[in-house]
Amino acid sequence: MAFIVAIDGPAGSGKGTITKLVGKRLSLVNIDTGAMYRCASLYMIRNNIHLDEIDKINDMLKKIEIKQEKINDIDKFYLNGEDVSDKIREKDVNSIVSQVSHILLIRERMVELQREMGKNADIVMEGRDIGTNVFPMADVKIYLDASAEERANRRLKQNEEKGIKMSYEEILENIKFRDNNDKTSPVAPLKQAEDAIYLDTTNMTIEEVVDKIVNIVDSKRK
Ligand code: DC
Repeated sequence: MAFIVAIDGPAGSGKGTITKLVGKRLSLVNIDTGAMYRCASLYMIRNNIHLDEIDKINDMLKKIEIKQEKINDIDKFYLNGEDVSDKIREKDVNSIVSQVSHILLIRERMVELQREMGKNADIVMEGRDIGTNVFPMADVKIYLDASAEERANRRLKQNEEKGIKMSYEEILENIKFRDNNDKTSPVAPLKQAEDAIYLDTTNMTIEEVVDKIVNIVDSKRK
């Protein structure tokens, strides 16, 4: 049986960075499930498939192949063989991915693919519903959180590094809006699994969070 670590939490909680580092420290394959919904969104934009076109979505799900691969220590995402790692982070994808992730048909297929990934490898998987829905029997479940203000600050820094111009107020408003959307979604709403360990990272460094998770996993694995 593979060993599974589930990491869930809201936007800007540091899941992406922390999952990668935990994977590296513990030799677990790290998987970014948000990127999978982003790949499906990109395909829909390119093929002019609207959110309510269920037949076309069904057809798309038979045709698309999504892969995550590590090249020189960088996670790359492939959509039908094409490297779309940068394209899936662009504005047009950002603007529809949340709605795309709420389409039941798409979610069912993605969850199926995610469960397959956990069959043959020890993994650390990040998302919104990993501990509650994808792997309710995960060996370790972590729910990462931080205050909305701290998450907005982190996003502001990331944006500055990437040359993206957005004010702190605008980012904070967007984070609060997304929090509400994610938590009240009728399909797989973001919530902490009952048996997940809650980590408030507001006043923690990345290294502290990673150390803490590594210790939790180590004590479980023994
Ligand atoms: O983590 P992210 O921003 O790349 O996620 C993109 C979108 O996908 C976000 O709106 C939440 C959604 N998502 C989801 O519903 N379930 C997951 N397991 C992962 C992401």
